[in-house]
Amino acid sequence: MSAPADLATLPKAELHIHLEGAVRPATLEEFSAREGVSIPRDFTDLNSFVERYVSATQVMIRPGDYRRIVSEYAEDVKRAGVRYAELEISPALGPRTLDSFYEAAEAASDEQDVVIRFVLGLGRLMPHGILHQALDATRNVPSLVAIGLGGPEEGFANEPFVEVFAEARRRGLRSAPHAGENAGPASVRDVLDSLKPDRIQHGVRSVEDPELVRELAERQIHLAVCPTSNLRLGVVESLDEHPLQELWAAGVQISVNTDDPGFFDCDLVGEYEIAGRLLDLDRSGYARLARNSIDGSFAPEELKREIRSEIETWETGAGAARG
Ligand code: ADE
Ligand code: ZN
Repeated sequence: MSAPADLATLPKAELHIHLEGAVRPATLEEFSAREGVSIPRDFTDLNSFVERYVSATQVMIRPGDYRRIVSEYAEDVKRAGVRYAELEISPALGPRTLDSFYEAAEAASDEQDVVIRFVLGLGRLMPHGILHQALDATRNVPSLVAIGLGGPEEGFANEPFVEVFAEARRRGLRSAPHAGENAGPASVRDVLDSLKPDRIQHGVRSVEDPELVRELAERQIHLAVCPTSNLRLGVVESLDEHPLQELWAAGVQISVNTDDPGFFDCDLVGEYEIAGRLLDLDRSGYARLARNSIDGSFAPEELKREIRSEIETWETGAGAARG
C-alpha cells in the first residue's frame, strides 16, 4: 500500500527530538565555519555519534544560536504536519549561551502554529555532582514539561539519576528517559523500576523480552521510536529487521520520530512512510499512529483534544479517497 499523498498534512506530534540534533546541516556548517572548528562527520554507533554530537554543541555558543535552531526546526516541521513537539535540550554539554530559546518557541507557536515544549536532557556521561544544578537552572523555563536521560547507555547505571528524577517529578515534570537503544531489555527494566518513566525514548530492544513487551503494553508505557536513527546507529541492520511491527502487534503504544534529523538525513514524514511500510498501514492506521503521538505527549488536555479532532478530520476528510 502506498502512503497517502497528503501524509504531510496529517496533524502529529514529535516526541523524540533533540534540540541540538535538530540543527539544519547548512546552519551547523555556518556555525562551524564561524568558530573555525570542524565537526567530524563519521559515526557508526551511539558512542561515536554522541562524541560527534557533543563536538557540534561546541559551535552552538553565540547569542541567538539556540533561538535560530528552534525557529528553523519549527519552520521545517510545520511542513511535516507537526502541531506539537517536545524538544530535548542538553544544557550541560558546554559553556553555551542558551539565550531566548524558549522565547523562540513562543514565536514558533504564534507564527507557525507549532506548539513547542522542552525536555531537560540529562546525560549518562554527565558528572553526577551537577545534576541538581542542571535541574535548578531550568526553574524559570516556563515551557519545560519533562526530564530526560540520554547519552551512551550500555555500561551506565541509572542509580545516580534516581534522586534528580524524583525531585523533577515532585516539581511536576514528567519522566522520559532513553533506554533499550544500545542496551537490551535489562536496561529498560532498570529504567522502569528506578526512573518511573511516563514514556521511554526508543525502548525498541524491549522486544528481546516478551514478558517486558507485555508489561509495556499493559501499562501503556509509550515508546517514542526512531527507525532511521536506529538504522544509522547500528541498533538494527536494516529497516526490514526493525521491531516496530512486533511492538505494534503486541499492543505497545508507539510513535515514530526523527531523534536527530540534522545528523541522520531524515524527516518525520519519511519516518511515517517507513512505519506505513513496516506496519502495512492504511489511512486509519496512519491516523492511529498520529493519535499515539498525541497520547504519548505531555501536551495539555485541551490541545490534545484539538489535535485529535484535526486528525479525525484528516482521517475521514476530503483526502480520504486518495489514501
Ligand atoms: N542524544 C542525542 N541522540 C541520542 C540518542 N539517539 N540516544 C541517546 N542519546 C542521544
Ligand atoms: Zn534520542
